[in-house]
Amino acid sequence: MEKGRTRVDLFEYQARDLFAKHGVPVLAGEVIDTPEAAREATERLGGRSVVKAQVKVGGRGKAGGVKLAGTPDEAVARATDILGMDIKGHTVHKVMIAETAPEIAEEYYVSYLLDRTNRTFLAMASVAGGMDIEEVAATTPEKLAKVPVDANEGVSLEKAREIVAQAKFPADVAEQVAEVMVTLWKTFVAEDALLVEVNPLAKVADGRVIALDGKVSLDDNADFRQPDHEDLVDHAAANPLEAAAKAKGLNYVKLDGQVGIIGNGAGLVMSTLDVVAYAGENHGGVKPANFLDIGGGASAEVMANGLEIILGDPDVKSVFVNVFGGITACDEVAKGIVQALELLKEKGEDVTKPLVVRLDGNNAELGRKILSDANHPLVQRVDTMDGAADKAAELAAAK
Ligand SMILES: Nc1ncnc2c1ncn2[C@@H]1O[C@H](COP(=O)(O)OP(=O)(O)OP(=O)(O)O)[C@@H](O)[C@H]1O
Ligand SMILES: [Mg+2]
Repeated sequence: MEKGRTRVDLFEYQARDLFAKHGVPVLAGEVIDTPEAAREATERLGGRSVVKAQVKVGGRGKAGGVKLAGTPDEAVARATDILGMDIKGHTVHKVMIAETAPEIAEEYYVSYLLDRTNRTFLAMASVAGGMDIEEVAATTPEKLAKVPVDANEGVSLEKAREIVAQAKFPADVAEQVAEVMVTLWKTFVAEDALLVEVNPLAKVADGRVIALDGKVSLDDNADFRQPDHEDLVDHAAANPLEAAAKAKGLNYVKLDGQVGIIGNGAGLVMSTLDVVAYAGENHGGVKPANFLDIGGGASAEVMANGLEIILGDPDVKSVFVNVFGGITACDEVAKGIVQALELLKEKGEDVTKPLVVRLDGNNAELGRKILSDANHPLVQRVDTMDGAADKAAELAAAK
């Protein structure tokens, strides 16, 4: 089954940590989530800091999300302003308290990325950094050097010098920037990244070249060899439904269709996805909205938890409950469904989406009778898998 996530975008502070780990020059910084914590962090930095909103969207500075603080008190005040701020639809939950750079003389741009179209890696570098690089690419493309990088050869110091020369970096920083290009490449490879970007890479008053802002996207296809990366994933933001399901111990994966799916046993749920996708072709192309396996012991509580997650998905227009009674007999499951709907009603959940239930296997007749007797207005019984999938798809399409 295809899983949605392949790219994990990191926060700036996480990018900073990875840069530091691989030798890219960065300033000290720590992430906090309360205004008061800004005071101590700023004291540790010698009494001054830069307070930076941590959101995965560009243009934070322009939106008021990057502020200088000259004293610990000021840092608290700026953190108070920035925490909770909305930046292009992203709420700020964390800020980074960063060391203040010496006066900035110049701002550059450097990055590596996977260039899918040309099936290669690409180095990009520009002396016109600090601003939106898409804009540089669009208005003054001659200021953005693009150099393909062979995966087998990588970026040696020679290669880095070639990139730096193409981008026409001033002689006084060329060697330092080349060294940054080498360490940045190490970061890219060692972390299985799809993108590493520094903007700005700043030349500061004392002559150093430092990464002041970074963006990293990791390739989660490499998770098997990157055990540390799991900690970098912002699960709650990535998918609130998946996070809620995980908290309830449910085996749930969000998909992008409209028919909610609940079944018992991973194999049955997988084939249910196929059958619904197939049936959906006759109903305007509706598709399964999720994978949810409630396992063998489908108690009323587990059923209620599952239904709650699925009904809470605004994309879901109908629900298909597909159960093959084995160890858990169908009458138990049927009772579970009836009780689950009552539980949700008691909790004040307004259930308005139609449910199609197919019960087969152990004690199917008894289970079907329980559903018929309950006579719930939103529940329909269909006794074959294909028929039920078709009904659920039809109901989803009608909404
Ligand atoms: N630690 C720092 N010390 C001094 N100045 C800084 C520091 N960090 C950032 N700045 C200044 O603030 C500007 C904006 O910072 P930064 O690049 O981190 O945010 P941004 O570009 O607004 O955000 P984004 O990259 O999300 O669009 C930088 O170009 C730099 O001039
Ligand atoms: Mg930036």
